[in-house]
Amino acid sequence: MIVSPPAEIGMPLAEVDTPALLLDLDAFERNLTRLADRAKRMGVRLRPHAKTHKSPVIARRQMALGAVGVCCQKVSEAEALVQGGVADVLVSNEIAGARKCARLAALAREARIAVCVDDVAHIEALSAASVAYGVTIDVLVEINVGGNRCGVEPGAPALALAEGIAKAPGLRFRGLQAYHGSAQHIADFAKRRDAAASAAAKARETRDLLARHGHDCADIEGAGTGTYAFEGTSGVYNELQVGSYIFMDAHYARNLDENGRPVSDFEHSLFVYATVMSKPARDRAAVDAGKKALAMDSGMPTFADLRDIEYTAASDEHGNLKLGETNRPLVIGDKIRLIPGHCDPTVNLYDWYVGYRGDRVEALWPIARGPGY
Ligand SMILES: Cc1ncc(COP(=O)(O)O)c(C=O)c1O
Repeated sequence: MIVSPPAEIGMPLAEVDTPALLLDLDAFERNLTRLADRAKRMGVRLRPHAKTHKSPVIARRQMALGAVGVCCQKVSEAEALVQGGVADVLVSNEIAGARKCARLAALAREARIAVCVDDVAHIEALSAASVAYGVTIDVLVEINVGGNRCGVEPGAPALALAEGIAKAPGLRFRGLQAYHGSAQHIADFAKRRDAAASAAAKARETRDLLARHGHDCADIEGAGTGTYAFEGTSGVYNELQVGSYIFMDAHYARNLDENGRPVSDFEHSLFVYATVMSKPARDRAAVDAGKKALAMDSGMPTFADLRDIEYTAASDEHGNLKLGETNRPLVIGDKIRLIPGHCDPTVNLYDWYVGYRGDRVEALWPIARGPGY
């Protein structure tokens, strides 16, 4: 079933049905350009993370501004991207299971495909699938640079895997995946910088060890919206996987710059449009965007246009608002723009982006959403 979008192109924004996922195209385009320019100035390649947006349209916009390709986390995301015309995709993650490996190998017939490993079991399964499909898949060794998620330990364990890849039929060693996830939202600038520097040191040592054994890393990958400037100037990373920068959610807005002020590299461009559906008290209202419309794992949404107002609690289809004095005139039917706490899982709740410029709907882009199989 294809769900019809909550808007039509050319429609005034005020007529868009809610809850809807709005994209302010002017702000989005400024974010795209800012990071593309910054990467050029730092002399590193961009491979933005498509897990944020799950949209081949957005991936192609990123590549039109110089990105070498995109990355994603799931085989189904890679399939949607390739089907949508993206020719270079890295699955910046481990995949497990013969069926997934076969689907990835099938995709490598149509596009340049790479994937990460942190165990010989991955190498064996990927090699078998590549041979069966007659393709070559590029492989990066993921090292644990502090996030303690996936990733083999830096140094000798990574070398052993690089040697295994080099010997495996159907695989080609491409480099290191060295993403430090838990550094991204360290609000304090110096602590965030130090965490990124520690990750870069581990990547550097591993790169040098591998080089001494004849395994040169063409790519050293990592970075996110919180730390990209550190990786980009580290002299170690040459490809940045920044994802959320295009949207800037409320969680990232809590990171601080070197002067202790909120970071200002990127603008909020993604909003959940919601309608006031009930006003049971002077200082209380309910909107039609609750837990099924907003991811709340990183905190409650904030407000794009209103101050003196708080999103206090959510149930499945309701969001409770506490209204300060200036917002008490809000009435049933008013529409407001919420800034999601966490952009990626919020996007994953919607079928369509409603792109708008000024107060007109300009674009409707489908979202390849789902858990990612
Ligand atoms: C492997 C990987 N690379 C990069 C990112 C960066 O994303 P963001 O810029 O959204 O923090 C993530 C986010 O989770 C990730 O898992």
